[in-house]
Amino acid sequence: MNILVIKSSVFSDGGNSSALVNTKVDALKAEHPEATFVERDLATDPVPHLDGKRVGAFFTPEDERSAEQQQVDDFSMALIEELKAADQVVLGLPMYNFGIPSQLKSWIDHVARAGITFRYTDQGSIGLLEDKPVTVLAARGGLYAGTDNDTVTPYIKMIFAFMGINDVSFVYAEGLNMGDDIKVKALEEAKAEIS
Ligand SMILES: Cc1cc2nc3c(=O)[nH]c(=O)nc-3n(C[C@H](O)[C@H](O)[C@H](O)COP(=O)(O)O)c2cc1C
Repeated sequence: MNILVIKSSVFSDGGNSSALVNTKVDALKAEHPEATFVERDLATDPVPHLDGKRVGAFFTPEDERSAEQQQVDDFSMALIEELKAADQVVLGLPMYNFGIPSQLKSWIDHVARAGITFRYTDQGSIGLLEDKPVTVLAARGGLYAGTDNDTVTPYIKMIFAFMGINDVSFVYAEGLNMGDDIKVKALEEAKAEIS
């Protein structure tokens, strides 16, 4: 079993979402001792932001790409292959300024590719990835789950579904900036839910 672990806190392992990811990984290791874990820490090993050159490389036919464009495509394809090879995914998801971390958006921008992970038809879009469980460990300073201000949950569900992955579940640790007592309780409850 292959498990892809993605951390997207700017604080790397110091982030609350990363602590929850590590709890989930420990639980999975105990449950599946034979499993292989591939970890992507998007803070220590960032995915570049998209720019015109990178998108241009994606859109250039393989036999017309420069060496530099091929490198860009190879990098994106390596991320896609990691996702494809995973039997399940563990994703740490901080909320920053009511959105996902830009580091995670860059990863998404390199794996959501027309003709590779989704395609458009005259009936609409079709996801090309195999469905697989994605466990999202979401950390927030305030209380937003289930409200209109949580734009992060619907976006993450939508973008994975767009690529064919519908089995996405969330564990939330909320109120982390609302005082130590609330923070400790929220993290304990999230860890108990994970384990
Ligand atoms: C730059 C920044 C922006 C933040 N914006 C929000 C926000 O919009 N809403 C919220 O509830 N918490 C916000 N927070 C609090 C974080 O969601 C909280 O610290 C959480 O633990 C972040 O996950 P992490 O510790 O894994 O990085 C923000 C924190 C930072 C550093």
